[in-house]
Amino acid sequence: MAKSASPPPVIELRDLHKRFGIGDAEHFAIDGIDLTIQKGEFIAIMGPSGCGKTTLLNVLGLLDNSIEGEYLLNGKPIASLSQRRKAKIRSEEIGFVFQSFNLISRLNVIDNVALPLIYKGMSKLKREKKASKILHDFHLGEREFYMPSQLSGGQMQRVAIARALVNEPSIILADEPTGNLDSHASHIIMEELSDLHQKGNTIIMVTHNPNLTTYASRVITMLDGKVDTDTFRLPLPARESTKKPLGNTTKKKLARKKKDTK
Ligand SMILES: Nc1ncnc2c1ncn2[C@@H]1O[C@H](COP(=O)(O)OP(=O)(O)O)[C@@H](O)[C@H]1O
Ligand SMILES: [Mg+2]
Repeated sequence: MAKSASPPPVIELRDLHKRFGIGDAEHFAIDGIDLTIQKGEFIAIMGPSGCGKTTLLNVLGLLDNSIEGEYLLNGKPIASLSQRRKAKIRSEEIGFVFQSFNLISRLNVIDNVALPLIYKGMSKLKREKKASKILHDFHLGEREFYMPSQLSGGQMQRVAIARALVNEPSIILADEPTGNLDSHASHIIMEELSDLHQKGNTIIMVTHNPNLTTYASRVITMLDGKVDTDTFRLPLPARESTKKPLGNTTKKKLARKKKDTK
């Protein structure tokens, strides 16, 4: 691989447009966005319903490739990549977290988390070992054999985050991950995203909750398919940014993280 002085931005958008509909119904859900995102940023995206936030995440996550303008991922124009290569990047380098958790109800927790590994051709035993390890890291070890319906919303979302991370992606895209959770569960999810951020991952999260933007290093507001404001800030340290007292699990987790330096 060629060496370069500094790595390219993780994401670079140049005059990005996304058009929906034809004729009279034609409109731009994304209407000219220029955006550069460096590795390790934690971006919160806000804006009114319909302003294009989900569309933007779908484009960034290579779920929607019919775009106009340029999208460079790690310096490579995605237009130059084959479908196969894009699918590989999507499954190995990008982790998605959705508002509605999207767990498969007929699979137990460990099988849900192990699912993305199937596409890697890993043996069942290896998949389960890996899923089990990440569930233990998330303090969900004793829930491995629960069905999703036996979990609280907060637990479901933590399982969904574990599933998004099982392939060790470097970019995490989260679309209103706390939209269905109460404030306490929301802050636990945010602590987890914050942890991932501190480990060097790039996180792009859509949220409606201005309180949660305190975890982010940059806040972008969108309006009518465009970037309206773009503000860099110092994120609060994970612990101090929690308004409510931490639950015991989170406290233990943070204490354990300090000891555990791997
Ligand atoms: N599949 C689609 N077909 C047609 N229009 C769409 C589609 N998806 C989104 N839109 C439109 O694009 C705009 C942006 O939608 P969306 O990205 O979902 O907004 P947000 O996530 O900010 O609420 C809206 O006007 C929406 O109706
Ligand atoms: Mg949306």
